[in-house]
Amino acid sequence: MTQDNRHLKQQLLDEARGRRRTRARQAASPDAPQAGGGAVAEHLTRFDSHPGYQQLSLMREGARRLGLSDPFFKRHDGNAGATTVIEGRDYLNFASYNYLGFSGDPRVNQAAREALERYGSSVSASRIVSGERPIHAELEGAIAEAYGVDDAVAFVSGHATNVSTLGYLLGPRDLILHDEYVHNSALVGAQLSGARRMAFAHNDPAALDDLLRRHRPQFERVLIVIEGLYSMDGDLPELPRFVEIKRRHQAWLMVDEAHSFGVLGEHGLGLGEHYGVPSHDVDIWMGTLSKTLAGCGGYIAGCQPLVDTLRYLAPGFLYSVGMPAQVAAPSLKALQLMRQEPQRARRLREISRYFLDQARRRGLDTGHSIGAAVVPVILGSSPRAAGLSHALFERGINVQPILHPAVPEKSARLRFFLSCDHSEAQVDHTLDALVALMAEPVEAPRG
Ligand SMILES: Cc1ncc(COP(=O)(O)O)c(C=O)c1O
Repeated sequence: MTQDNRHLKQQLLDEARGRRRTRARQAASPDAPQAGGGAVAEHLTRFDSHPGYQQLSLMREGARRLGLSDPFFKRHDGNAGATTVIEGRDYLNFASYNYLGFSGDPRVNQAAREALERYGSSVSASRIVSGERPIHAELEGAIAEAYGVDDAVAFVSGHATNVSTLGYLLGPRDLILHDEYVHNSALVGAQLSGARRMAFAHNDPAALDDLLRRHRPQFERVLIVIEGLYSMDGDLPELPRFVEIKRRHQAWLMVDEAHSFGVLGEHGLGLGEHYGVPSHDVDIWMGTLSKTLAGCGGYIAGCQPLVDTLRYLAPGFLYSVGMPAQVAAPSLKALQLMRQEPQRARRLREISRYFLDQARRRGLDTGHSIGAAVVPVILGSSPRAAGLSHALFERGINVQPILHPAVPEKSARLRFFLSCDHSEAQVDHTLDALVALMAEPVEAPRG
């Protein structure tokens, strides 16, 4: 972090602390209306006093003083793939999860159009009540077939899939052990379940083993949650070791394949294919339809009793509307195309590896990325990451900064998502632009 950025950050933190102290004084003052006496302290009734809004305001003020535009909620005019158009301007795009280029593929679009014409735009009810359409079973059958397991169930949101699955399957006598970097949806699900929750060090099976040795006997069911490919770092777990550990301790293993399905393995079939681990060695395969599969929603694939239980009883499935047909159909089509066109997954691996190698050759810090669809460039300061993202955007390159508190301040970064449609020339151009910008003197903050 530069001297100027450090100074600005400190100033903003001091101001925020000052505001917090004032609020605390107001709340503690004998004149302040108190909860329980009929009236409630005024700041507790206002959204602009909410801690979330306070944090947001702090970030916006920091960006304003640095002269940066808001890097979030960019409006794409059309489909976002390796390139995109944002508010009328062309960009190279490294900020979408359209890994195999299926969102925007004419065949996938056509499948959506046909489903819309046939089934209408909403199934309007929970599938168990009257929302079921044949396309649901076709999609779930294709997912189960891809994994080589009994069955699958598709939820309307990937996030809700984890929340509902963990929230329903586990309870207060159970234990959930998860990688410390696991996605928010798994954490929320674990919280909802009422189970005891413990994090183990990232990608560290020995740390997991140790926790299980100490705590397994005190709990009934135990679930271990890992991801197939971690989307902040682009690294992956050593699946065979996790399988061996879960067996030894009689626990369930769940793998969230949001970023690994379509990306890892010869045919894009995910972490199991990457390691040659049989599907049945993992108890719960989870994935999302929003990334490789060009749709929206999530799935759980596994044995029949697991899928039946969720289909009939998981609240986010039972009490929520079924997936619209025009959302199910493109994901089904994308999955069929992925099976027919394994060259897409191969090309994604090649171009991702190229990006990683070229970034390293230029001396960039890519952390633990293995070069599969996700490659971070670690910069070590949030203002620097935001500033470089802004400068690249001005040069026609769209890449998202990942800032504190999403990651520790020292590992703030730019995060590049690759697609099979990116070219070597686009990668070279992007990395050259980044390296040139990094060499420029950092401008003093304005404001
Ligand atoms: C690992 C992981 N799991 C679950 C989700 C939630 O999926 P969705 O965005 O499709 O709701 C995400 C979202 O990015 C994710 O990265």
